[in-house]
Amino acid sequence: MESSTVALEHEHRIVQKVVASMAMLTDELTEGKTVKSQLLKEIVEFLRVFVDQCHHAKEEKYLFPLLEQRGVPAGGCPLGALKLEHEKGRVLVKQLAESVDAFAGSGGAAKDSLIQSLRGLVELYPLREMVCCWPWPMRRCCA
Ligand SMILES: [Fe+2]
Repeated sequence: MESSTVALEHEHRIVQKVVASMAMLTDELTEGKTVKSQLLKEIVEFLRVFVDQCHHAKEEKYLFPLLEQRGVPAGGCPLGALKLEHEKGRVLVKQLAESVDAFAGSGGAAKDSLIQSLRGLVELYPLREMVCCWPWPMRRCCA
């Protein structure tokens, strides 16, 4: 059985793949190519259920408190920054869902806010946890 931190890291890689797809869709929309509304709705569902309700919930309920027990300050970097990113992500996913609905309702015409929402999430998601934070909490939890 894999450890909890290995499972979370695996989930990060899954999120990274979807975010890469979101970046490609953003480019396609910007170039005027057609993107199916159903695909965008499935991305919103993935972000709400897998990323937030599953992955972020596990981090917030188990990982972050464990790190705090081991002396990591609750505020500042990395934990305060990660918690703030989770909150920003929830706001951006809500905006994306609204943009997708407007895009679908307009037959693909209302794409400016959709592009902006996608870009916001593409820039938010993969960075801090993947690049600078994860090796560190893994050392803290697994040492
Ligand atoms: Fe995470």
